[in-house]
Amino acid sequence: MSNLLEVDHVTRRFAGLLAVNDVSFTLRQGEILGLIGPNGAGKTTLISMVSGTLAPTEGDVRFEGRSIAHVPAFRRAHLGIGRTFQIMQPFPGLSVLDNVAIGALFGHGGGERKLGRAREQAREALEFVGLEKFADQRADALGGPSRKRLELAKALAMKPKLLLCDEVMAGLNHVEIDEVIAVIRKVRDEGISVLVIEHVIKAIKSLSDRLLVLHHGEKIADGAPDAVLSDPTVVQAYLGRKRA
Ligand SMILES: Nc1ncnc2c1ncn2[C@@H]1O[C@H](COP(=O)(O)OP(=O)(O)O)[C@@H](O)[C@H]1O
Ligand SMILES: [Mg+2]
Repeated sequence: MSNLLEVDHVTRRFAGLLAVNDVSFTLRQGEILGLIGPNGAGKTTLISMVSGTLAPTEGDVRFEGRSIAHVPAFRRAHLGIGRTFQIMQPFPGLSVLDNVAIGALFGHGGGERKLGRAREQAREALEFVGLEKFADQRADALGGPSRKRLELAKALAMKPKLLLCDEVMAGLNHVEIDEVIAVIRKVRDEGISVLVIEHVIKAIKSLSDRLLVLHHGEKIADGAPDAVLSDPTVVQAYLGRKRA
């Protein structure tokens, strides 16, 4: 497997705060990489430097071998990087279908040019995540679990090569979590590589090929899920404590 994504000594500061400190990792083609760590560890900041909503203070990000560290987010979407947002922001007045169609209009390869075709793509994405029956409803009428799926559908309508998921299982019950896990497996079976931030250890362990752990902005472990989750440093930093 070749590297789709290479994050190379990336640092991000906010004023005096080191949110991400000299982190390097790779994500291989076809891989599901899990990213865990306590609240405030820098997980969202790290994937924002991959999606382009934040620029790194130092370091480089390469996608398919080329540096994208200073490429704006919309161009990274064109290159095939799609993401969900931890804080969901649907366009409230628009239908569920049109929220997803917007994703299709701005996606991989420059997006779909025609609205009709974008809506078709949106419908496929809604079917993929199991939201098709809500297609014509207003997005703000959706409940929490469905909004998580909407975030996934929006990102998938962009036809990404790499999908970044930021806590798409937060607030879901066990049944809903299993459903989202099934959707993410299906995404990978389509040939899309996935980076998933998650707090539910059982879920991330069964889903990930590899796990990466952040703590106070630093990478403290990277490897096979079983080995990482039994690593004393990880247990001490994260698992031994209650989640913030
Ligand atoms: N835009 C920002 N401005 C200032 N500080 C930020 C900003 N975004 C995140 N931070 C800080 O950076 C640290 C890492 O945050 P974040 O990446 O959201 O962590 P996580 O997603 O792991 O919970 C936190 O201390 C947070 O308060
Ligand atoms: Mg976060």
